[in-house]
Amino acid sequence: MKVLIINGSPRVGGNTTVAVNELVKTFDTEGVETEVVQIGNKAIRGCIGCYSCAEKKKCVFDDEVNELAPKFEAADGLIVASPVYYASPNGTVLSFLDRLFMSCKFDKSMKVGAGVAVARRGGLSATYDALNKYFGISGMPIASSQYWNSVHGTALGEAQQDGEGLQTMRTLARNMTFLMKSIALGKEKFGLPEKEPWQPTNFIR
Ligand SMILES: Cc1cc2nc3c(=O)[nH]c(=O)nc-3n(C[C@H](O)[C@H](O)[C@H](O)COP(=O)(O)O)c2cc1C
Repeated sequence: MKVLIINGSPRVGGNTTVAVNELVKTFDTEGVETEVVQIGNKAIRGCIGCYSCAEKKKCVFDDEVNELAPKFEAADGLIVASPVYYASPNGTVLSFLDRLFMSCKFDKSMKVGAGVAVARRGGLSATYDALNKYFGISGMPIASSQYWNSVHGTALGEAQQDGEGLQTMRTLARNMTFLMKSIALGKEKFGLPEKEPWQPTNFIR
């Protein structure tokens, strides 16, 4: 069982890292393997809507997106932890996720997803909602916790003092482990749900 964790902060040792470390510690005790990749300090550009990934099955820009795609494919779960910038995930996280989810053409259904938002004060639930949208359009069940997945802090590492936020991270890791194990059992027993061919419609016709 393996979870890929994306740390969207550009700050090394920042508050997103504090949240991620709490997740990793809990997954360790649950016997779940984790890999953490910090992307917030990388120059990741946005999607240009060229749709060449439809044919190539990878992004036209060969960077962290293409590098991490096979790790996403191999993982049972994906966590995206983002600092809140103006009540949204930061720009690098959005650029990364737009391109990752658009260019990864493998079946993502029943991989478990979770978003985590980290902020000084406000915009956490809006950020959490934005992250969850990527999972919801991909047939990925979303792991929840005891509260909307969020941690507070401003100065580097201050989130260490957010007792409830860190507890929320531990509960999330335990719930996600249970969900991934249950899905693995369900796949064995019942198989994946039937998939109909996509029936795309546009609102102008
Ligand atoms: C450009 C920018 C925008 C921000 N916008 C918000 C915001 O909307 N709400 C908030 O509570 N904190 C905001 N912050 C503060 C960060 O979310 C906060 O410092 C957080 O701990 C950063 O996480 P990190 O240490 O992992 O980078 C902003 C910070 C920056 C640099």
